[in-house]
Amino acid sequence: PSETQKLQDKVQLLKKEKNAVVLAHYYQEPAIKQVADFVGDSLELAKRAAQSQAEIIVFAGVHFMAETAKILNPQRKVLLPDLNAGCSLADSCEPKSFKKFIQQHPEHVVVTYINCSAEIKTMSDFVCTSSNAEKVINSIPMDKEIIFAPDKNLGDYLIQKTGREMLLWDGSCMVHEAFSIDKLLDLHKKYPSARIIAHPESERHILRAASYIGSTSGLIQHIAESDWNTFIVATEAGILYDMQKHFPDKTIIPAPAKENNSCACSECAYMKMNSLEKLYSCLKHETPEIILEQDIMKKAALPINRMLELSN
Ligand code: 13P
Ligand code: SF4
Repeated sequence: PSETQKLQDKVQLLKKEKNAVVLAHYYQEPAIKQVADFVGDSLELAKRAAQSQAEIIVFAGVHFMAETAKILNPQRKVLLPDLNAGCSLADSCEPKSFKKFIQQHPEHVVVTYINCSAEIKTMSDFVCTSSNAEKVINSIPMDKEIIFAPDKNLGDYLIQKTGREMLLWDGSCMVHEAFSIDKLLDLHKKYPSARIIAHPESERHILRAASYIGSTSGLIQHIAESDWNTFIVATEAGILYDMQKHFPDKTIIPAPAKENNSCACSECAYMKMNSLEKLYSCLKHETPEIILEQDIMKKAALPINRMLELSN
């Protein structure tokens, strides 16, 4: 067996010994997803974490996802292989400035995308993910004004979809803003029978070129249900592994990134901070662990649970 295989076997043994589960996001590297008990989008991962009976949850994703898992199931020990695995969207919404912003608009309902810190969640009325954001917005009475944070691109998309005016926070995902519309259209000319599909964190011009827009699981589901054979995918490149695995007969092409990007496709450097080695070590030593104050967990749980009630 290869070194990777040997390490994966050790992880599987430790999982049994310690009654642990590994929850992984699609953007994680294949070696991690292969040892995961569940691979999914943000909403599915949050639900799995909430229901987990395991003693330890190793969260192979980024910090806000592991925090959400801890908030929804505080009795479990939640581990994150690399505590520095952050998110540019979460970083763009600093609590002090956000507090000021919402204080300037006290009558507004505050909806935050799950890609934010636990502290931001404590200031929110509703949390949402890309797979239920429309539902959450539509559940708010028409006479209420809405603040949406931190993703201005998802916010702009939701304004168009729901017809609701919303005050947007000026945050964005550096990975989804790295796509080049010119290169994308050139690529589409090369593959005219391809469907462009995109994550709603992408900019408006990219979304306009897409024939389907959805969360990571939504994108996979769309390919499953579609009769088309070729897809150009505008989201983080890690998901291509899952698409190719589930649909080996389909042609899956990553949407091209702008010139100055480090790879020809788009990769999330934060997601890629986790590695199989770090995952093994964190499970073995039971650190780094997500620790949150009781008060923050209690307050942040309210808007997340409101979202979960709407998603059932
Ligand atoms: P999903 O909820 O669609 O998996 O999105 C998570 C994310 O971070 C996208 O960049
Ligand atoms: Fe955050 Fe973007 Fe990475 Fe998703 S892809 S975790 S939104 S930086």
